[in-house]
Amino acid sequence: MKLKKFNSEEAFVNDGVAVISEVIWNAQSEKGRAAIGVSGGRTPGKIYEGLGQMAAENQLDLLKTDVYLLDERMVALDNAASNYKLIKESLYAGASLQFLNNLHYFETGLGKYQASEQYKRELESLGNLQMDLVVLGIGTDGHFASIFPGYVEVDKGELVIMSETEEFEVKERLSVGPAVILNAKKILVLLKGEEKRAVVEELLSGQKKPQEYPAMILLNHLDLEVYYCE
Ligand code: 6PG
Repeated sequence: MKLKKFNSEEAFVNDGVAVISEVIWNAQSEKGRAAIGVSGGRTPGKIYEGLGQMAAENQLDLLKTDVYLLDERMVALDNAASNYKLIKESLYAGASLQFLNNLHYFETGLGKYQASEQYKRELESLGNLQMDLVVLGIGTDGHFASIFPGYVEVDKGELVIMSETEEFEVKERLSVGPAVILNAKKILVLLKGEEKRAVVEELLSGQKKPQEYPAMILLNHLDLEVYYCE
């Protein structure tokens, strides 16, 4: 694990934008298109906005970038808690509707069973089920995407899982499974604020079991970069 600490939000955002855009450029020059997985939450919004800004200035080609949501809350797509809405209004702010064709999202309006089947098909369009990069946050309980404590124990390698949490207002979630997340070429974890200091400590000590603290399984990845902003 590579840890980078920031004491200014501006540097955190600029570096986040830089590392993600570099992955996108490299993948596009190697194979024509890039595929990235994105999480929701409060931390990454400004970084997605920065990438959207680069695209608006023609420094980043989002038409050649497949963007996969890594998880979603079971709410309507225009609900304030929707990750689809977050990405649409940050990464794709100012972009025309055709850009949204490259956004792979959970169709929550279908209900969780059908939306989970629909998203499996979206993932199957991904060569080798491999994204070039996944951008994750980690909660203070150790969850990432919508993989909450207790899940890793029962992991059967599903592409998409249905999960529930008592920690948040929206309890029902859909998530890409850990196997697909760990299969990404690179993992970037974004952590911000005092309450996430303990998450950094947990990752550094690596003591907990993935069953109680799912983020522990990320430590198995060979290209794991953690950005922490105080
Ligand atoms: C989501 C997520 C989730 C998030 C963490 C951290 O949609 O909620 O994908 O896994 O990344 O809960 O969220 P914060 O950045 O808000 O702390």
